[in-house]
Amino acid sequence: MIRKFSAAMAIALALPLVARAEVDKKTERNWKGKCAACHGADGKGQTEQGKKLGVKDYTDPAWQKAHSDDEIKKVIAEGTTGMEGYKDKLDAEQINGLLQLVRALK
Ligand code: HEC
Repeated sequence: MIRKFSAAMAIALALPLVARAEVDKKTERNWKGKCAACHGADGKGQTEQGKKLGVKDYTDPAWQKAHSDDEIKKVIAEGTTGMEGYKDKLDAEQINGLLQLVRALK
């Protein structure tokens, strides 16, 4: 009985982890495929395009503090000067994943 319970628990605990790793991989693919040309894979913006467009360094804690989650999601969806919006290419979940990725850069 106890053994059965812990096996079920182990599965219940492992499943969300697997699902999360899957989302992360897709998010990383989106970042590398759609964003890294300007923002750099490391989020520092030190690419040729990033430098030209004045992309900021998102690993900077001061940058992280100055930008809210809502603002970041809005820019990814709607775009800003020098960056197109992605609301037609990415759904809310994908945009949220990219927000988490940006937050993890610091
Ligand atoms: C053509 C180059 C380019 C591409 C591609 C691009 N961006 Fe941007 N991005 C910019 C520029 C330019 C800015 C404005 C300067 C800045 O704030 O760093 C910006 C701003 C941002 C910001 C700052 C938002 C804020 O609150 O100020 C985030 C976050 C961001 N981009 C994420 C992304 C994500 C995620 C993708 C891919 C889905 C992406 N960008 C694709 C050029 C680009």
